[in-house]
Parts: sequence; C-alpha cells; structure tokens
Amino acid sequence: MSLLLNRNTFGDELNNANVLSKEEASQLLDEWVLNDRLRLHMKQVSNLMKRWAAKIENLNEEDQWRWEMAGLLHDADWDQWPDQHCKKIVEELEQRNIDPEIIHAIASHGPNHFGVEPETKMDKMLYAFDELSGLIHAYSLMRPAGYEGMELKGVKKRLKEKSFAANVSREEIQDACNRAGVSLEEVIQFIIQHQKEVHL
Ligand SMILES: [Fe+2]
Repeated sequence: MSLLLNRNTFGDELNNANVLSKEEASQLLDEWVLNDRLRLHMKQVSNLMKRWAAKIENLNEEDQWRWEMAGLLHDADWDQWPDQHCKKIVEELEQRNIDPEIIHAIASHGPNHFGVEPETKMDKMLYAFDELSGLIHAYSLMRPAGYEGMELKGVKKRLKEKSFAANVSREEIQDACNRAGVSLEEVIQFIIQHQKEVHL
C-alpha cells in the first residue's frame, strides 16, 4: 500500500499558532503509541527539535513548543496503523484544527515515503533528526558507557558501516542535512550532546 499523501497543503491557515497543550499531546502519545521503544524515539526527537529551536534558531517558548510538538507526534500512527503511517496523524491534527505548519512538518518528515517536500526549517530539521537520532541511539546501546564519552568520529564510523542500523538510510540523512543547510557533523554533535537528556 502506498503511503503517498498526494497533496501539499495541510490544515487551515486560520489555525495558525493553534497547538495542543502539553497534556493533550502526551495523552495522544500514550493512547496511540504502546511500544516503549517508539515512544522513546519520539520523545528523543521532540527534545532535539525543542533544543534546536531554542539554541540555534533563537525562537521563543511558543515556537519551541511547536517544534517540540511536531517531533513528539511525527510517528504517532506508526505503532498501531503502519499502513496508514503519516496519513492518520495528519488527519487527526487537521480535525483538531492544529497549526498547518506543524502538520506540514509531520507530513514532510519522509519525503521519499510520503511525497511531501520539507519546506520550512522546522520541516527540514525534523527530517534530519529523525533517522540520525535513531542511529545514534542504537550506537549508545552498544557502548558500555552509553552516551558518556561518545565522539563524533565514533558515530561517523558507524555511519560508514552499512551493516550497523542497516535500516537507517545514509542517503536520506545526508539529503536532510543538505536541505537544512547544516553540516552532518553539527547535527551529530548536537544529538550526542542532547539525546542523553531523554528517558522514558
Ligand atoms: Fe521517527
């Protein structure tokens, strides 16, 4: 079954800046995502999005939450409805009258899968963090010290090993960084620094 969304506009402009509360977002996450590993992944990506919005983009707290929310819900439908992945969460957020920019970020987090191009910086960073965060988490699990003492060169070595986290597309990671106009090294360092902050 195709996961293509076959459209480029999402939500309604009138809903600009309309967000879920933190409680509503975590309730949705808990109801939809029963798999702990996936929930951890989504929390990791949401933390990276929030930190990047604050530290690199210098955005205010409201905007930080918009970035964080996109990260928190981007895979919300993957656990229970994999054949409707992306479509179901996009439609749910449209029904809840959520800010179209947040919905667009979610809709474009896998341009090769859903056919929606990342346009804003929020879109592009979600695309960049998604796969790379997973690979670095897998690397932390095989290191006795976890994230402690992890270095850029270790991550780059794992990236070169095709058999390591083989389902993570190296081409997509590079494509995402190119589109976002950030270096692969900067994104890796950022993840090493911030991913350890998140626990289930
Ligand atoms: Fe993801």
